[in-house]
Amino acid sequence: MSTTSKTDTNNDAGRLPVTLPAIAECKRRGEAIVMATAYDFPSGQIVDAAGADIVLVGDSGAEVVLGYDSTVAVSVEEMLMLTAATRRGVRSALLVADLPFGSYEASDEQAIRTAQRFVKEARADAVKLEGGGPASVSRIRAIVAAGIPVMGHVGLTPQTSTALGGRRAQGRTAQRALELAGEALAVQDANAFAIVFEAIPAAIAGEITRLLEIPVIGIGAGVSTDGQVLVLHDMLGIYPGRAPRFAKQYAELRSAMVGAVSEFADEVRTRRFPTAEHTFSIDPKELAAFREGLAGLER
Ligand code: KIV
Repeated sequence: MSTTSKTDTNNDAGRLPVTLPAIAECKRRGEAIVMATAYDFPSGQIVDAAGADIVLVGDSGAEVVLGYDSTVAVSVEEMLMLTAATRRGVRSALLVADLPFGSYEASDEQAIRTAQRFVKEARADAVKLEGGGPASVSRIRAIVAAGIPVMGHVGLTPQTSTALGGRRAQGRTAQRALELAGEALAVQDANAFAIVFEAIPAAIAGEITRLLEIPVIGIGAGVSTDGQVLVLHDMLGIYPGRAPRFAKQYAELRSAMVGAVSEFADEVRTRRFPTAEHTFSIDPKELAAFREGLAGLER
């Protein structure tokens, strides 16, 4: 995306804020949209500085940051805290927050109230919610009508993966692929500004992407979608053996982090840390006076 000024291409200081029209323009121009997750101040800063167009505070944070065994456990309060912290680190990218399971399904009114909290309390630019059935579509329409931009999410929807038969690819039969196309079109008709396709065969995702006017951000959906998203912790290799097949690992930070803390532990135990460079000194006269005073305190 061409929102970077000529004078500053390597950090975020000169980047213009990414807007919804700029995201729509990417699709028209055929420029790939980059989205990555972040969950706190430093990860928000890192993803923003790397030039991502969209930062998603995904409910994947339930698993990769909060240690739950699925995304359904995370509360609105927890997601608000993660989103507000990420906001403080993100200057240019569009900040999208996931509405957690149980916070929008009951009614359009509940969905609007929850979305408003993410905008008012955590300063998200937009929210994302899962599903392309009639209820989700109604929630999207209602939230957008209340003035909050919404990103949709179809295919593998982790919040309802039990009902989908587990975390498995969707749209692998003609019938299910046609259902997905119908859901994506309904999400678009409800005025979502973009949509995530998760774990959908590349050929199906590519054809539905061509059918849609709104940008499609893929994860496990092949190279023909309008953009790609990855979970930051999968990308950086922070977990041993956790990442799904479609997540590419670009670094191996877990071993680097364990190595650094082990080195610290070793230096502490062998009294090689701290050295003079990490230690405060005191004027020798002050030290002598202190010792004299201390001697007076000795019993
Ligand atoms: O929660 C999340 O991180 C997501 C992405 C995988 C799209 O929904």
